[in-house]
Formats: sequence, C-alpha cells, structure tokens
Amino acid sequence: MSNNWKKNFSATAHKTRPSPIRELLKVVGQPGMISFAGGMPAPEVFPIDQFAEGAELLKTNGTSLLQYGTTEGHVPLREFLAKWTAPRLGRQVELDEILLTSGSQQALDLFAWAMIDPGDMVVTEDPSYMAALTTFGNHGAEFASVRVDGEGMVISDLPPLIENLQKQGRKIKCVYTIVNFQNPAGATMSVERRKELAAIAERYGVTVFEDDPYGYVRFDGEHLPSIFSFDKAGNTLYAGSFSKILSPGVRVGWVSGAKEIVRQMVVFKQSLDLCSSPITQALTYEYCRKGYLDSHLPSIIANYRVKRDAMEKSFQKHLSPLGITWVKPEGGFFYWLNTGAIDSSELARRALEKKVAILPGAPFCINPEAGIHAARINYTYSKPDLIEEGVSRLAQAIEEMKISA
Ligand SMILES: Cc1ncc(COP(=O)(O)O)c(C=O)c1O
Repeated sequence: MSNNWKKNFSATAHKTRPSPIRELLKVVGQPGMISFAGGMPAPEVFPIDQFAEGAELLKTNGTSLLQYGTTEGHVPLREFLAKWTAPRLGRQVELDEILLTSGSQQALDLFAWAMIDPGDMVVTEDPSYMAALTTFGNHGAEFASVRVDGEGMVISDLPPLIENLQKQGRKIKCVYTIVNFQNPAGATMSVERRKELAAIAERYGVTVFEDDPYGYVRFDGEHLPSIFSFDKAGNTLYAGSFSKILSPGVRVGWVSGAKEIVRQMVVFKQSLDLCSSPITQALTYEYCRKGYLDSHLPSIIANYRVKRDAMEKSFQKHLSPLGITWVKPEGGFFYWLNTGAIDSSELARRALEKKVAILPGAPFCINPEAGIHAARINYTYSKPDLIEEGVSRLAQAIEEMKISA
C-alpha cells in the first residue's frame, strides 16, 4: 500500500505555507534579473581570505572540530561575544546567559519551543519579519500588532493593547521587536521608546524578544543602547547574528538572556540539532580573535552606504515624480516604499516581467491591508549601476500601472 503522505501530515504542516521570499529567490538567479527582493549581503564584501586563514585550525585542532560540539556552543566564541556585545547590552553577560544558535532564526524557533503554546499571543510590529511570524505561527501563536512609525514600534499603543488582551484572559508570551533598521520597514526604535518598552515589560511581566541582526550595520548617526540594557528585571532576550556582518553561510547566531530561558532553549536545541556546526563556530571565532570582525566591518558598512545612497538618488530621480514616498534608512538592508494608490502585489508581478524582483508588503503584515500599498526593497545585494537600472525599470512598471488604471 502506498503512503498517502499529505493525508498523514501534521496539523502544523497543513497550516504552513512556503516562504514567498525563499520561493522568489529561485527565480532571481535568472540571467538579467536585478534582485531587490532578498535580504542578502553583497558577495563582494565577504572576507574570503581572512576567513580562509582560520581554516589552518583544522590541521591543529581537527579532531575536536570534526567531532560533535556542546549544545551551548563554542566557549571561546561565547566569551568573545559576551565582551563584544557588552557596550550594547550595558553589561557583560555570563557564559550561561549566552547560547550560540544556527543563525538567529534558530533562536526564534528555540524561544518559541520554550515559551509558546497554541493560542498564546505574540505582540509584533506591523509590518514585521516574515520568517519570525511563520516560526511563531508554527507553534500555534496568535498575533496582535502595533504600528511602526519613523521611531519604530509605537510604544504608546502597547499598554492598552496588553491590558485589553489580559482582560480577555489571553496569555501574552512576548513582544517581538526588530529594534534597529527594522525588517522590512527600515525604522529604528528611539532611545526613549526602548526605555519605555523595558518599563512596560516590567510593569506587565511580559517578555521582550529583541531581534538585532542589522544593528551593527549603521551608516549614519550613533549606535543606540539596546532594550536589554534598560531592562533591570531580566525580561528581555537579545538575539544577534553573524549573517549580515560576516556571512550568512556560517549560520552562527546567538541569544543572550536570563539563565532560565537560555537553559530551556539549550534543552530544546539538544533534540533539534544536538549542536551547531563546531567547524563554523571555531572559524568564526578565529576571525573574531584575529580582530577581523572589527577591522572588516567598516568596509562592509562603506559598501552598503554607497548602495543606500545610490538607491536614494535613484528613488529621487525616478520614483519621487510618481508620488512614491519612503523614509531613508540610517543603516541595515531595506527601504520600505509607500506605493500610494498602487497595489504592490501587482507591481511586484509587473516588475518581475521587467526583470526586477521586489517584495510586496502584504506578507509582512499581520493586517495584510496595511501592506497592500507598501513594498520592501533591498539595496545591499546589487551593484550601484544595477540599482539605478532596477529603479528605472520599477518606475516604468509604475507608470504603466498608472496609465492602465
Ligand atoms: C529580523 C531578522 N531576524 C532574524 C533573521 C535570521 O537571520 P539568520 O538566521 O541568518 O541569523 C533575519 C534574516 O534576514 C532577519 O531579518
């Protein structure tokens, strides 16, 4: 008898949909395509030689690097990160307050395993990072959302929302926020709002998941202290990643927070993948130990600043006359366009015909209505001349839609 796979899928499998981004990435490799769709670093900034130097380690420490590692992760890298992140976190975390994960994506999943039962509430920014919403959703989370403006999550909306949910007897398991150069909206939470969020978390006994993969990629202005640094009650979990500041291919992320939650995440990681790759963790540590993380980061930032500026110039030239608006990001990977009356899903489809890939806003939104007239545009991946060409093609697609409307 042949297996009826679909019939036997889990309830979660029946609910889960493929990621529109990862599906689109399959077509963006086509010849002539200009991709503003993914959240990919530029291949030309990968520090290949410096990273390759570390591989010498295989000759001296190969027997341990090729072996299983501890679930908590490579101790020297955890020690390094505890020191390196101290200025941002306001203190040096202890070793049992930091866990290395297979990208920060896994930190989200481990957190969800530890905290979320079906029907629990997660409060997010609207729009928010699609794969976090999917991960929380896979664990049965339901969502309540808060608007994002130029200063990030509109924190004043939170207390009434929390009180209302608590009145209804709902369990709020976390407030999820991408504090710096938000994906997709590009906004950065102001210091005042960070302080307020830490105070609200304490007042209502709510956990904050502070997701910060882009925070070190700042072009203009000063770095801001984390929510974690204002949180004296230990309600905040801070997640970081090497994906945007070294390479996503290493799949090394980390999460820092109270010992109890970190320990519970370790217990789930023991069964999810036993440990992250000891090889990439050790090579990442070598890279950091030799000072390359600090010495190479400015060249990554410089490369992306040039591209952000190229995109800004092209938007002003081609999109401003068409009534499209945006806020210039101070760092990170994305612009979030307000397409006015234009339906962004249709725009994305037409742009693809002109060989430009962009992402429509709706899949990023809890309330899809909020994303119908928005689009996420990545600028880190394409070279500046292609940015100009891509934006000009996007403008043609918009003009054609305006004419046919
Ligand atoms: C906001 C946010 N969080 C987490 C991740 C996951 O990153 P990684 O697993 O590569 O560390 C991403 C990736 O783009 C992201 O944008």
